[in-house]
Amino acid sequence: TEYFHYQQDQLYAEKVALSEIAQRFGTPCYVYSRAALTDSYRQFAEALKSRDHLICYAVKANSNLAILNLFARLGAGFDIVSGGELQRVLAAGGAASKVVFSGVGKSEAEMRQALEAEILCFNVESAPELDRLNALAGSMGKVAPVSLRVNPDVDAKTHPYISTGLKQNKFGVAYTEALELYRKAAAMPNLRVTGMDCHIGSQLTETSPFIAAAEKVLALVDKLAAAGITLEHLDLGGGLGIRYDDETPPSIAEYGKALLAVLQGRSEKLIVEPGRVLVGNAGVLLTRIEYLKHGEEKNFAIVDAAMNDLMRPALYDAWHAILPVQRRQNAPLSNSLPQAGERTSEKSNSQIYEVVGPICETGDFIGHAREMAVDKGDALAVMSAGAYGMSMSSNYNTRPRAAEVMVDGAVVHLVRERETVRQLYASEKIVA
Ligand code: LLP
Repeated sequence: TEYFHYQQDQLYAEKVALSEIAQRFGTPCYVYSRAALTDSYRQFAEALKSRDHLICYAVKANSNLAILNLFARLGAGFDIVSGGELQRVLAAGGAASKVVFSGVGKSEAEMRQALEAEILCFNVESAPELDRLNALAGSMGKVAPVSLRVNPDVDAKTHPYISTGLKQNKFGVAYTEALELYRKAAAMPNLRVTGMDCHIGSQLTETSPFIAAAEKVLALVDKLAAAGITLEHLDLGGGLGIRYDDETPPSIAEYGKALLAVLQGRSEKLIVEPGRVLVGNAGVLLTRIEYLKHGEEKNFAIVDAAMNDLMRPALYDAWHAILPVQRRQNAPLSNSLPQAGERTSEKSNSQIYEVVGPICETGDFIGHAREMAVDKGDALAVMSAGAYGMSMSSNYNTRPRAAEVMVDGAVVHLVRERETVRQLYASEKIVA
């Protein structure tokens, strides 16, 4: 995106050189562009503006309070999957009345918390969950708004670990059983059936599976209507992909247009739950090269970020571009990032590196076989790290989690301090 760009040989986030941020806040450090976040949200709102809609940002993609607060101020609702995420949304100034609660394993405590907050809707994923919610709401003298997550059994054509809409997945209720469950829900005294939802997977790079899922969901909505159950909203989930490398996902505008086309003539409010597409390309992970190690078969650039900071490469074999924060010699004089399919290829003095972290696991890598002209001490930017980066980080190897900063024009805000080691064991006890 244009929010991260080279000026001469310096990589910038908006108007701030990333080298300055690395200097000032240390590494590893996540850097978010406020303008990029705002832009992606606005594109979504623009794409759906011709109909009644609510954009429920999927908090799991990046749950930093500054990001939640920014989206809340832009008008967003939130898709949460835990009581913890609900608490974050509220702490960030989000409105409970715009929160939908997804997830297959909601605990009683989480349901209670959400009922007390009076969220917009529970996206229920099973018959026993309906029972639990109805009983709990009853005991609290409340009526819980519910939607059933229907599994449309369409192939999202994405990585199997992040594909969720197939019959064999644990998510949602089977398409063939949904009508029966809706009848059951509608008859429960402490539930109010308000919607239907689906989510078929993440990092989708085509529109067709979204459309196929929406059509199946709509057919079911019609069946329900015929059975006397009318819905207020349709929640079509998230899943729109971004470009990490040479993927060519539909734009937000194209995606929105396609959804609106299937929904034409329908009066239900549209809810969407985008995560990655709102934040993924609005963030990078800054890291620094600790050592260059020239092995017998491979060269290693050992950096100070690891799989605990960014798990996606280790977990999904995901590809993230890795760019020098300061380009060395012979770099092409272009202000743009490498184009689709074009890997960073600095001509002379460049070598092929395995970019790896300090963690004691062979799977601890950030990138394989990257051609780079770099030296020890150089800072690197791991691109497209705004989604499922910090939010999936851990403390493995007793590594404090990274700092997070948000750039706003020429200003840098520290939005999460780097953890200290003391914080990591503060709640532990030695047994006498
Ligand atoms: N709604 C539901 C019910 C979800 O399960 C998800 C993501 C979303 C919305 C948001 O999907 P998005 O728009 O971000 O694709 N950790 C993986 C991604 C896991 C996605 C899980 N569910 C990754 O790093 O690729």
